[in-house]
Amino acid sequence: MKRIGILTSGGDGPGMNAAIRAAVRTATVRDVSVVGYMDGYTGLITGEFQELFDRSVGNVIQRGGTILGTSRCPEFLDAGVRFMAVQQMRRDGVEGLVIIGGDGSFRGALAIEAEHGVPIAGVPVTIDNDVWGTEETIGFDTAVNTAVIAIDHVRDTSEATGMMFFVEVMGRTSGAIALHTAVAAGAAGVLVPEAHEQVEELVERLKRSIERGKRSHIIVVAEGDEAGGAFAVAQKVGTIMNHPYRVVVLGHTQRGGAPTARDRIIAGVSGALAARALIEGRSGIMIGIQRGQAVEVALKDVVTNSHPSPDTSLLSLAQELAG
Ligand code: ADP
Ligand code: F6P
Repeated sequence: MKRIGILTSGGDGPGMNAAIRAAVRTATVRDVSVVGYMDGYTGLITGEFQELFDRSVGNVIQRGGTILGTSRCPEFLDAGVRFMAVQQMRRDGVEGLVIIGGDGSFRGALAIEAEHGVPIAGVPVTIDNDVWGTEETIGFDTAVNTAVIAIDHVRDTSEATGMMFFVEVMGRTSGAIALHTAVAAGAAGVLVPEAHEQVEELVERLKRSIERGKRSHIIVVAEGDEAGGAFAVAQKVGTIMNHPYRVVVLGHTQRGGAPTARDRIIAGVSGALAARALIEGRSGIMIGIQRGQAVEVALKDVVTNSHPSPDTSLLSLAQELAG
């Protein structure tokens, strides 16, 4: 393979740039040229790309977002559009693609592999940590750290005023960010889609801890929780308890910012291995982390297996340690 393409797709996550850098340099050092498609599958369709050289990816390892841009591109669901995109890609001499994104992006990648034989290697990036085949997606660690720092700040006000704080974190249908954040930030409670804590139980625990003299109360709510997000939970709990409260929705603050060292390392290893696999002729794979080791996983399995469940034992741990 003499020329490969790279694109970042779906929701951005901290570490995408570190993965691009690793893939580009792994290729260029092997005399394989690289193009970066702009804005995910949108750039593949419009043929908008830039040549990437080893110096093109200098000074990006520490930056959040993605230098290539990303998008959610509904047009790519259309087989006719995918056909045109692949034709264009071939005219540009691109022989295979490193796809950096979540499992939606991998579905698109598998479609062009199956329909047109385009060689594909995937690098899983999403703050949600919900990709089958890897213990940890790139971006997750940074998102958790961002949420924990925010909650540390909120806790100061909670302690000073005695108000309860309901902090909503992202994760789409996954409670992974919420569970990890709750344990790391010492939250009094955590509500996630994978477990069904009753609001009444939460109220009882909060009442008991207030009676024992606790002043700061942080309740982490996963955005996908069936109770309906932090505003809904706060209103129920606040009304039953008649206790002052505030709601903080962390939202997209968790998606940006400098990647942690851990995310940079996983991104570096995964980006490099994905590019190497492609250049060496392997396709239809994603680089996953299993038992702490980087391994090649079949993309077919990634998209057909259901989303991995986060460690729900962290929920009772957070409750037990809340004091
Ligand atoms: P993520 O990759 O973060 O999971 P999305 O689910 O939004 O994000 O997927 C990113 C993009 O991948 C979509 O906007 C679309 O362009 C493409 N995609 C997703 N599912 C498919 C599919 N079944 N067929 C073709 N392309 C798809
Ligand atoms: O998948 C990453 C994520 O940030 C989810 O946690 C969140 O639900 C979603 O993307 C938000 O998507 P958008 O930026 O398109 O609103």
